[in-house]
Amino acid sequence: MADHAAANGKESYVTAALNCIDLSNPDIHQSAALIKQACMDSGIFYVINHGISEELMAEVFAQTKKFFTLPWEEKMKLRTGRNRGYDTRSKKIDSQTNKELNGEQFMMVRELPYSDKEAENPLTGPNVWPSADILPGWKETMLKYQQAVLNVGTAVARIIAVALDLKVDFFDQPAFLGNALPYVSLNHYGAEDVDPSKEYLLGTPAHCDPPIITLLATDDVPGLQICKDKHAKAQIWQNVSPLKGAFIVNTGNTLERMSNCVFRSTMHRVLYRQDRYTIAFLLYPSNDAVIECIPSCKSAENPPKFPPIKSDELLRVIANDIVAGRVTRDATDA
Ligand SMILES: [Fe+2]
Repeated sequence: MADHAAANGKESYVTAALNCIDLSNPDIHQSAALIKQACMDSGIFYVINHGISEELMAEVFAQTKKFFTLPWEEKMKLRTGRNRGYDTRSKKIDSQTNKELNGEQFMMVRELPYSDKEAENPLTGPNVWPSADILPGWKETMLKYQQAVLNVGTAVARIIAVALDLKVDFFDQPAFLGNALPYVSLNHYGAEDVDPSKEYLLGTPAHCDPPIITLLATDDVPGLQICKDKHAKAQIWQNVSPLKGAFIVNTGNTLERMSNCVFRSTMHRVLYRQDRYTIAFLLYPSNDAVIECIPSCKSAENPPKFPPIKSDELLRVIANDIVAGRVTRDATDA
């Protein structure tokens, strides 16, 4: 495919123009109009004035870098084979392009003890952590960030509710985001030996995220690309520039499914040439949430495209896909 040829080479890409949502704006209807436009166009936008302090963001990035600079043996002690702890993409091949993948990550699910009845679900249970002797304060910083970014995600979801002509607290119900699953992935796209005049490295292959929304914090190194029309034969990729202090927010397949495809999940990938760190937060509803078409997105002429499904069932499908190396593309395989 044309986009895959591009991923191999030295092409240049235009930069996407994205709407910017100011969470300190008291006019929620103005913000909702911007989000609606973004979600119907590309499914991606910036969020600024989100309330997380610069100090906490700096600390999270500093601790992230410290973790990835640990010796390989130390990081491998935290490899679980599940979606928590350490993992490396090296020696893995993207099934779409047959290109080598690059990068490493550390994942955190919602922290629950082994004894909890939900501990066996894909995105809940005990996490693994680097030793406090090696990285003092690391776990505490990450748990603090996980809660802080969950609060931002919930605030964005309120605006999305208004954008979909729902009550502002539609997603806040206990069986939905009131018991949300906050999944955090620290990402390092290593490029120590890369000559910037050479080819891009493939960090993350083309995919759509499964949750409601993803909030991405980045350093100032570019790498994220989006494809607005994921069903087009000739895919056109655009760069998404980092914006200092902002989250890059993209919609996921759960929201695409609930909105009957009115809001689109964003297909994206990572191509990079410089050492790059990002922190992704994926906002999933509670395990018990029923993922079904929301009332304002269906009618007699436009019936639901997807049957209702319980969130933990959907998550198991996603988890199996990830383990099998399958790529989620749209709501039908979310
Ligand atoms: Fe993603």
